[in-house]
Amino acid sequence: MALFSKKIDTDTEFSVLPKHIGIIMDGNGRWAKKRALPRSAGHKAGAEVFRAISKECGRLGIEYVTFYAFSTENWKRPKEEVNALMSLFKDYLLEAKADVTQSGNIRLKFIGEREGLSDSLLQLMDEAEEETAQHTGTTVYLAINYGGRQEIVSAVNKLISQGKDKITEDDISSQVYTTPECDLIIRPSGEQRLSNFLLWQAAYSEFWYSDVLWPDFKVDDLHSALREFEKRNRRFGG
Ligand code: FPP
Repeated sequence: MALFSKKIDTDTEFSVLPKHIGIIMDGNGRWAKKRALPRSAGHKAGAEVFRAISKECGRLGIEYVTFYAFSTENWKRPKEEVNALMSLFKDYLLEAKADVTQSGNIRLKFIGEREGLSDSLLQLMDEAEEETAQHTGTTVYLAINYGGRQEIVSAVNKLISQGKDKITEDDISSQVYTTPECDLIIRPSGEQRLSNFLLWQAAYSEFWYSDVLWPDFKVDDLHSALREFEKRNRRFGG
């Protein structure tokens, strides 16, 4: 059972917590548009929220949280927006490198296709993974150049190259990027779709939606999602 309980303080005391949360950080563009700012300003504000929510997941003792930062489809966006996002990832990793303690006890990992990402970004990603590998707190997966279908296809191809001719669910689970099943998917900004995120791991995920745009998402919104999750009756098809 992918659930455990943890006592933090009276306001954030949950009888049950998801083991793995997936977060679709949506609404940055609309947030920026409302303020007549470039879309990159929305992503920058979104990156700050990413930091705050990662930190809170660490404080609460969530084991895994996966943030959807850049999909395989996001390459279709204007070049300057793509470049701004890549710069944000690098800036975050450089800052985390300069001050490893800033990330607290978080273990950083990346999921997605490496092909297509610049060598300089890949190097920073590798260094961040190495430098935080011994951390024992929340594992934060950053999905960059990630697509759920591509993840499954790549898992199947790995199994074929290992000589498997009859593939089981357990085989695929062993080859996808993140092994834990996802218990809760959080999507702000009013959209109610999965958008090719964690397709394999989200088979029995609970969904939580909100109209709040990601740059306005607060720790209290995370707590609301967790309160709602506490009440859900999960039957896993049984
Ligand atoms: C979707 O909102 C969001 C993205 C494609 C990018 C998400 C990335 C971040 C929040 C930055 C993360 C930074 C770090 C350092 C991890 P959208 O742009 O599609 O918004 P819209 O639907 O309102 O246009």
